[in-house]
Amino acid sequence: MSHKVYNFSAGPANLPSTVLKKVQSELLDWSDSGMSVMEVSHRSKDFVALAVNSESMLRELLNVPSNYKILFLQGGATGQFSAIPLNISTPTDTADYIITGNWGKKASEEARSYLNVNVVANESTSNYTTLPDLNKVSFSSDAAYVHYTPNETVYGVEFSKPLAKSSVPMVADMSSTILSRPIDIGSYDLIYAGAQKNIGPAGLTIVVINENLLGKARSITPSVLNYTLMSESESMYNTPPTLSWYIATLVFRWLLDTGGLEERHKINLAKANLLYQCIDSSKIFKAPVVESARSLMNIVFTAQDNELEKTFLEEASKANLKNLKGHRMIGGMRASIYNAMPIEGVETLVDFIDNFDRRYT
Ligand SMILES: Cc1ncc(COP(=O)(O)O)c(C=O)c1O
Repeated sequence: MSHKVYNFSAGPANLPSTVLKKVQSELLDWSDSGMSVMEVSHRSKDFVALAVNSESMLRELLNVPSNYKILFLQGGATGQFSAIPLNISTPTDTADYIITGNWGKKASEEARSYLNVNVVANESTSNYTTLPDLNKVSFSSDAAYVHYTPNETVYGVEFSKPLAKSSVPMVADMSSTILSRPIDIGSYDLIYAGAQKNIGPAGLTIVVINENLLGKARSITPSVLNYTLMSESESMYNTPPTLSWYIATLVFRWLLDTGGLEERHKINLAKANLLYQCIDSSKIFKAPVVESARSLMNIVFTAQDNELEKTFLEEASKANLKNLKGHRMIGGMRASIYNAMPIEGVETLVDFIDNFDRRYT
């Protein structure tokens, strides 16, 4: 392709081009096996070595303490909506859910099949453009866990730091923020993420869990969702998503080689600031999320009217700025600028918005 396409999809999202080139170069002959990585046994010496290496790189990137296990699972983040209550609660327990968007809502709805759900905060009244004042939230004293979504992908709302830790296990859906900035794993007892945004291709799901939560799964827990079983079998109780895991490993290598998460955070801040500044100074567009709650990864904006939004999206697509349509639930526009989106992609979008602004006002 002679002209560059910038893909602003919320997920599956773009991957670093250096990673894709590496995949291409070893697609037919991985690790001198004469076979593609897709064709080798997950129990082969080479693949097991890849898995060990992958875990150690992710451990380094996230600075994971030694009393936490990393699991490489399937079923997406949605699979974890059930796995969490099944693994760390009993049917008579209560769990507190903080709802700041549709993913937290979905997680809470699914959990209702397994335990009592106490929704302690729900930002639906602001149309999910705000974050709750946690000083005003009354948590259950005996909750099995607290669940929240640090970055809500659809509405573009993000907590910029972890919630204060109490003695209750803290569980976080990090699907659309993991690896975008350094995180203090010790502020959580369990984090999880589908891969298809900042980790790699869809199919892989990462869980990082404090060891003291293992060994509590209910007897009805399906094996593939059972954290204890998966931990004991090094995430290979059954066949893992080998291609996705391999590509994720290349992404971990790329992140380490380019300065790790401190450096990534600086770049992500620069990208997000550039785009928010452009939207805030536009006569046509606005960002509905209050400034203190704005996501670094998913930048939601709207135009004065639907017709103008339609024109914007059509023209943007023709200019190779793809997948800027907002989530089907809320419309408008959304630019997802995960790690793999280069600053040049954001600069090109900003130029396009500025130009559109001039032409249509
Ligand atoms: C924050 C968040 N949680 C959960 C999900 C659902 O993930 P999956 O499709 O991997 O089940 C998504 C998907 O976009 C998401 O953004």
